Amino acid sequence: MIRGMTVESADAPTKILLDEREMPRRWYNLIPDLPAPPPPVLHPGTLQPVGPDDLAPLFPMALIAQEVTPDRFVDIPEDVLDVYRLWRPSPLIRARRLERALGTPARIYYKYEGVSPAGSHKPNTAVPQAYYNATAGVRRLTTETGAGQWGTALAFACAQFGLGCEIWQVRASYDRKPYRKLMIETFGATIHPSPSALTEAGRRVLAAHPDSPGSLGIAISEAVEVAAQHADTNYALGSVLNHVLLHQTIIGEEALLQFAKAGEQPDLIVGCTGGGSNFAGLAFPFLREKLAGRMAPTIRAVEPAACPSLTKGVYAYDFGDTAGMTPLMKMHTLGHDFIPDPIHAGGLRYHGMSPLLSHVYELGLIEAVAKTQRECFEAGVQFARTEGIVPAPEPTHALAACVEEALRCRETGEPKVILTALCGHGLLDLAAYGRILAGDMEDRELADEELATAMASLPTVPA
Ligand SMILES: Cc1ncc(COP(=O)(O)O)c(C=O)c1O
Repeated sequence: MIRGMTVESADAPTKILLDEREMPRRWYNLIPDLPAPPPPVLHPGTLQPVGPDDLAPLFPMALIAQEVTPDRFVDIPEDVLDVYRLWRPSPLIRARRLERALGTPARIYYKYEGVSPAGSHKPNTAVPQAYYNATAGVRRLTTETGAGQWGTALAFACAQFGLGCEIWQVRASYDRKPYRKLMIETFGATIHPSPSALTEAGRRVLAAHPDSPGSLGIAISEAVEVAAQHADTNYALGSVLNHVLLHQTIIGEEALLQFAKAGEQPDLIVGCTGGGSNFAGLAFPFLREKLAGRMAPTIRAVEPAACPSLTKGVYAYDFGDTAGMTPLMKMHTLGHDFIPDPIHAGGLRYHGMSPLLSHVYELGLIEAVAKTQRECFEAGVQFARTEGIVPAPEPTHALAACVEEALRCRETGEPKVILTALCGHGLLDLAAYGRILAGDMEDRELADEELATAMASLPTVPA
């Protein structure tokens, strides 16, 4: 035995697994359990709440219904469960080796979504979105992607249901991650760098900034524009909207069953937030339990200091995209014109935050912190060296917060139970690891002047 290591008893498993038959068959909708409903989504022309017909050019009715459903639970269609079974239930893993390396009395668990075909949590919503569009007779989906995880997930899901798929990838990530493009093409989808000359929205950005690194907001404008112009084409979004968060709750529902099996309850739940979907997916079922008085975890979102929508943005009505084509949503935002620095966590470079998660934050039900990328990647490297998984750049933010808390526990002696979302692997993000290993990764933090400039573009809406 290696000095300083102990062999854990077989009674304390490392992986807490569920059988396929134990996989939850319903998604959870937090809204009816909240003390106050979230503010409505507004039509930018009339400033009145949007109705189903306003959204029909982009989404099938089944998804529009899920966006506003008053039901606490939504049944997962059998065809979706069938595809989920390719990788779900996903494992809950106790990070004993990381705990030992940190010398902490904390018990750290991670829910690992990197086992999916795309390598992240994104197929949890890509599959139902493709399914509902296919059953509505749609022939093709368009979308944006940042890091490439969402684009890969939708390409995979469209292949499962015989749909065409066209993707705009943020230029900064497109250039850095050629293997994501190849993976997306292998699944049969078409991919363009954004901004592109293929759309009016892209041409407008290129005319003003020919070297634009792009942003999720611009890529959304391009994908929405193309979907709105073709009757057989719909748009799919990888985060932010209520139905996306709903689909992701399968993560937290599984984790609840796994914690019950382990005989534990989390004291702290941490997750990274770009648009909020993996975080909400893990946290919302636990929040239900907390609101019902059955457990009391602290729930903490972690965002990049270069794109801190929750911790530095304002809570206001704003567009979801750069060109201003989407409805107005009340959310924490840095302004729809904001182009975040090209940090390596491409999936966290979004100007806004999910309106539902923003509302939950305003209600004081979750906390938020921001972290710079070097601290995050250092936690990612430590995680890889101990647990053996190279994390995607996005969840290194959650891992950095996890390490911080575990070290605090080392000081106080508290044996806290920490649960984190390891929402993807980083095997196609190794260039970023190359930068941290070579010691030339920069920290970027949003300056107050940049924030003030971005805020100037907020639309005027009655308070
Ligand atoms: C691996 C990974 N994690 C997290 C995110 C951020 O999205 P969200 O906050 O919706 O989970 C992305 C987005 O692309 C991602 O690819």
